[in-house]
Amino acid sequence: MSTHNVWTHKGTFLLAAVGSAVGLGNLWRFPYLAGENGGGAFILVYALTIFAVGIPILIAEILLGRNSRRSPIMGMRFLTRTHSASRRWEVIGWLGGISAFLILSFYSVIAGWAIHYTWKMLTGSLTGASAETISAGFDALLASPARLTLYHTLFIIASGLIVGLGVHQGIERGLRVIMPALFVILLVVLAYGVANGDFPAAADFLLTFNIADLSLEGWLEAMGQSFFTLSLGMGAIMAYGAYMSGEVSLTRTAIAIAVVDTAVAIVAGLAIFSLVFGAGLDAAQGPGLMFVTLPLAFAEMPAGGLIGGIFFILVLGAAISSSISLIEPVAAYLVERFDLTRPQAVFAMAMATWALGLLTVISFNLWSEESVFHGLFGRSAFDLFELLTNIFMPLGGMLIALFAGWALTPSEVVKEMGTNGGWFTTWRFLVRFIAPAAVAFVFLRAIPQVGGYLLPAIGAVVIVGAFAAHRTLLTEAGQTH
Ligand code: PHE
Repeated sequence: MSTHNVWTHKGTFLLAAVGSAVGLGNLWRFPYLAGENGGGAFILVYALTIFAVGIPILIAEILLGRNSRRSPIMGMRFLTRTHSASRRWEVIGWLGGISAFLILSFYSVIAGWAIHYTWKMLTGSLTGASAETISAGFDALLASPARLTLYHTLFIIASGLIVGLGVHQGIERGLRVIMPALFVILLVVLAYGVANGDFPAAADFLLTFNIADLSLEGWLEAMGQSFFTLSLGMGAIMAYGAYMSGEVSLTRTAIAIAVVDTAVAIVAGLAIFSLVFGAGLDAAQGPGLMFVTLPLAFAEMPAGGLIGGIFFILVLGAAISSSISLIEPVAAYLVERFDLTRPQAVFAMAMATWALGLLTVISFNLWSEESVFHGLFGRSAFDLFELLTNIFMPLGGMLIALFAGWALTPSEVVKEMGTNGGWFTTWRFLVRFIAPAAVAFVFLRAIPQVGGYLLPAIGAVVIVGAFAAHRTLLTEAGQTH
């Protein structure tokens, strides 16, 4: 059974996809990763991946959603049936479902920190505070499982309520209020940064491309980040695409999503680093950049408490418009597959992720040094979940690209894309070969033994991948279904 939901307006898909894409990835993760990895060089790799790999996969993912008009798992089942492909491709849906749980479980905990800081800023309790006080405050927050759990719970409840109200009454209505407000706040914060901070230093830091600054680790993180920031390869975009009207051009929409998402990351980076450099602070602060360094910058500036509070509201809004897109694919699946009502489905999903999130909560205190996870994987639960996400999303993206590139027929793709044949050929080349090669590159560079054999190894992976994709589609044609 399909859900038969369709967005109210032609443009709503774009609104929803941008809501999903713009989130903690842009405001929290992007600036600190850029800060740690030499600024401009990191951004260059990140932007190249977005445009050469991200956009084609984005198109592929929307295509699979809109073509099947179902949740990712049921949608892949349907597509393998209608395209005489192996049912093993369903793994795309399952990988996505698992990623949704993992991401939401830690996303919600981090978003919870923003609740804490919104409160701290608006009550003015950080105004004029010293560096020691602010960083001790952050440490104290992380050291308290009770407080982290409280904020995590509030965030999950808020996200669950929105999705529980339904695609129209909840998600659409919520986004119509949240998204325009976000853009206004972002501009206010940028203007504040320009007026009170060191904008030229920020621009110089983010926009000077020196590729030699980038370590191997930096390359990997830049590519992982470009999947994360576009919500790519885990079914969120597919689920939203299932509700998209058939008339809208996929290509133009995908480009718009990528451009807006990148622009938000860069504007946020410029605003944040203006403030950080203006206060004479250091860019390479890691995950604490937004929660320690930035509050410190606000603490010293005029009306810092108010603008800081507004900034953290922006962070919260962006996080919630992303978290609802993490709940939707799984909730839609539970509704389709088990005939649950939407509130029941959302409740089940939210409860399960909430419980999983407790592992992230204790990764910062009780289990920060020693735990089963350290014993088994050499890292905390939170670090493990982040690592798995960085693997699953590109992997999911690669499978989506291969399936869309090899299984869908040219005529249906051309019809959906709403563009001319020339672009279709380019797109198909990108999803059949370039996107899988890029993902292979990320994974292979992580294996030291590959070393000088990198290029032949990528070639081999792509050829084998293309061959396998082609075969699993053809061998089962007309037999199993
Ligand atoms: N794109 C979101 C961000 O940048 C994170 C996200 C990933 C949301 C995957 C949904 C799905 O914050």
